[in-house]
Amino acid sequence: MTQRQWACTMLAATVTCSVLISAPVRAQVHRLDDGLARTPPMGWNTWNKFACNVSERLIRETADAIVSSGMRDAGYRYVVIDDCWQVYRDTAGTIVADPQRFPSGMKALADYIHSKGLLFGIYTDAGTATCQGRPGTHDHEEQDARTYAAWGVDYVKEDWCNARGLTARAQYKKFHDALVATGRPIVLSICEWGSNRPWDWAPGTGHLWRTTDDISDNWASMLYNYDLSAMHQDVAGPGGWNDPDMLEVGNGGMTDDEYRAHLALWAIAAAPLIAGNDVRTMSAATRDILTNREVLAVDQDSLGEQGWLAEQPAPGLQLWVKPLEDGSRAVALLNRSGAEAQMSVDWKAIGLLPGRAAVRDLWAHADRGTFAAGYGAAVPSHAVLMLKVTPVKGH
Ligand code: GLA
Repeated sequence: MTQRQWACTMLAATVTCSVLISAPVRAQVHRLDDGLARTPPMGWNTWNKFACNVSERLIRETADAIVSSGMRDAGYRYVVIDDCWQVYRDTAGTIVADPQRFPSGMKALADYIHSKGLLFGIYTDAGTATCQGRPGTHDHEEQDARTYAAWGVDYVKEDWCNARGLTARAQYKKFHDALVATGRPIVLSICEWGSNRPWDWAPGTGHLWRTTDDISDNWASMLYNYDLSAMHQDVAGPGGWNDPDMLEVGNGGMTDDEYRAHLALWAIAAAPLIAGNDVRTMSAATRDILTNREVLAVDQDSLGEQGWLAEQPAPGLQLWVKPLEDGSRAVALLNRSGAEAQMSVDWKAIGLLPGRAAVRDLWAHADRGTFAAGYGAAVPSHAVLMLKVTPVKGH
């Protein structure tokens, strides 16, 4: 990745730059090609806000709110119940949902979610028990996959607690094969926290794979996970995505500027966008961040490139770039420092040929004009300026 950046910067004034900007390594990565996750999955998950406090009521109310808030129509489709929905296995070994918390059962809940135009996701663990001590899927892979398919599950997140002695690559492959055998299209979210180098094997096994430990609702944690995921930029693409963990937008630990930066960076990274807030009670500001269609379009761009760090002109001041299908570039000018800073993007640094380009500010929803060689503006501390830069034809 680094080589590619520098080659591009050095050769930016020559016609070869746009050739260099396409990733040579990507072609050698065999990602799943089953029609699922052609763009990064979008949805909502219980864990970041509700932890073990899950119930059918929460899921139904949240599904309703995902629709009424406009999140569904903005692209958030998978409604995922994380850990703690399961209580034991019955005498036949079938996994049982908590009858107190899910009195209507999972099939009815899936039907409800589907009736809203949404998709249904569930959590399990490759080991003997989940991270919260509920039954894991080890030695029940085929049986659990069949159960989930019968319920109408569309997405499974598989965790890695209590898996001592197991090999991640083999276990996830086993579960992937079990899901395929059901005949139902089901997204597999691999969640072993980047601990077994998933970027080396997960692209052929799952549709997304965690590259990091769990995110926390603060600026440092968010950036830490983003930086780790950025190291594996070259393996991501349609069918398989690096996952720096779910969104914290709206959970209260960051400012709105920081949450805008969080979403912008996840979009530049072509990361899965799994919201983790209380959608039923979110503020208008949170809703507006989560449903900014111009930023979401960067994440969902069909080219499926994960962006990279193009420049760091000073400590804490970074220029991130992601090429888009239409030949334009999404740019994030990220100010990680403690003070406002003047920041700029030079067309050379983002692999554009010399000539005028139109600049649109994706958070302000405003065209800034066309510029011959670059664009600059002040960026507040702990904030991002997110732009779309489109070469103007004939210039
Ligand atoms: C792990 C995962 C989290 C969440 C919890 C649930 O920590 O990484 O995303 O699923 O388990 O127990």
